[in-house]
Amino acid sequence: MGFQKHNKSVLVHLFILFIYVSSVFVSARVVQPLLQNYGKPIFRSNFHSIYDTSNYGVFHLSNGLALTPQMGWNSWNFFACNINETVIKETADALVSTGLAKLGYVYVNIDDCWSSVTRNLKGDLVPDRKTFPSGIKALADYVHGKGLKLGIYSDAGAFTCQVRPGSIFHENDDADLFASWGVDYLKYDNCYNLGIPPKKRYPPMRDALNETGRKIFYSICEWGVDDPALWAGTVGNSWRTTDDINDTWASMTTIADLNDRWAAYAGPGGWNDPDMLEVGNGGMTYQEYRGHFSIWALAKAPLLIGCDVRNMTAETFEILSNKEVIAINQDSLGVQGRKVQAAGIDGCSQVWAGPLSGNRLTVALWNRCSKVATITASWEALGLESGIHVSVRDLWQHKVLNGDAVSSFSARVDSHACELYIFTPSTTSYSAL
Ligand SMILES: *[C@@H]1O[C@H](CO)[C@@H](O)[C@H](O)[C@H]1NC(C)=O
Ligand SMILES: *[C@@H]1O[C@H](CO)[C@@H](O)[C@H](O)[C@H]1NC(C)=O
Ligand SMILES: *[C@@H]1O[C@H](CO)[C@@H](O)[C@H](O)[C@H]1NC(C)=O
Ligand SMILES: *[C@@H]1O[C@H](CO)[C@@H](O)[C@H](O)[C@H]1NC(C)=O
Repeated sequence: MGFQKHNKSVLVHLFILFIYVSSVFVSARVVQPLLQNYGKPIFRSNFHSIYDTSNYGVFHLSNGLALTPQMGWNSWNFFACNINETVIKETADALVSTGLAKLGYVYVNIDDCWSSVTRNLKGDLVPDRKTFPSGIKALADYVHGKGLKLGIYSDAGAFTCQVRPGSIFHENDDADLFASWGVDYLKYDNCYNLGIPPKKRYPPMRDALNETGRKIFYSICEWGVDDPALWAGTVGNSWRTTDDINDTWASMTTIADLNDRWAAYAGPGGWNDPDMLEVGNGGMTYQEYRGHFSIWALAKAPLLIGCDVRNMTAETFEILSNKEVIAINQDSLGVQGRKVQAAGIDGCSQVWAGPLSGNRLTVALWNRCSKVATITASWEALGLESGIHVSVRDLWQHKVLNGDAVSSFSARVDSHACELYIFTPSTTSYSAL
């Protein structure tokens, strides 16, 4: 009937319109500049090149996780292979009793060495009988009972780095097993990889985890060897951009710089991972650890504590529990901050900055020189228009500094110290422009 035919063609048109509108909507999220309303009169034209976000959200693993960088704890940096179910449980207890869990540190991640050196006769992974006698399911139940999440570790190769069975060619069975235990997070390492490229070895575990139907955070750890920022956005929720960190100033600063290169590729759903925190492990000074934590927060790195949270000093706790710094890391805009200015010998006098929600910026003055220095962040380097007045909040002193800053901001910073701020451009100052 003519009427029906007409109706059908209306429906077809509506359907085409719907496809068109939704594709515009989708491409609006991806193609248009993320920071489109970050322009005049507050921000100058170089803003979008300083904080390039051209690859933000382009990839996206659609498991709904990692809308902000993951927070929690991992056993490796402090305990290495010396782990057991007691220490994991006591850590979960300590995360709760110290208040760190409430601040967002919810993943309790077991690293290498939880597994027996061989699979069982059915070919399944089995927890080490001596150190994890109650099994991982019981541990997951315990951790979940505290309102936390449990992470586990395997390897995209024949063996883990500590020569436990790896998961390559066992992806589906191992993912099913992890899901049946109630695991919430998988760190997937890169040892004994048989020379197969990471781009081939990491996607099968993504698919296997997806098919379990359980939401499992997928943390890719291929050490940055194949530039994962360029491809891992559709594969994992975070990807290591560098070799392992160690508890030294040299390692931490080197890794911060290597990770910085990939800033344009981070965003909700997928983060650059410059490795876990060393704060509290004793190899750096209080000021150096403060810088480590400040820069990791600003760079939207995972905040995975790597010390013994059962036995933290007051200084360690002060750093890890700084709510204002955590809020920088967990800001809903999800844009990685980056190094915007480097002066002095070997560029040791540095300004790092990044956009935050609400037209704000986070700014770090990081003195990597061997002497105290006055570091100046110019509005040009930050991408701010020159006449803009800025209210400055110091996130380590927990106070707003006296008087607005105009055209630049300077502070005297001790050697190896880092000051961290939120800059709020004044919304009244531009009426004077
Ligand atoms: C599996 O992948 C599909 C398609 O990308 C996605 O919609 C779904 O949420 C994923 N499920 C899990 C459990 O990750
Ligand atoms: C468990 O591991 C911790 C940390 O290495 C160690 O201090 C403790 O003695 C171990 N406990 C058992 C029962 O093996
Ligand atoms: C720590 O890392 C630095 C810089 O990457 C490296 O030179 C050094 O050899 C490492 N130290 C240890 C003990 O692994
Ligand atoms: C706690 O940490 C201190 C160093 O900060 C160390 O000397 C002490 O042995 C640790 N105690 C335990 C029980 O691990």
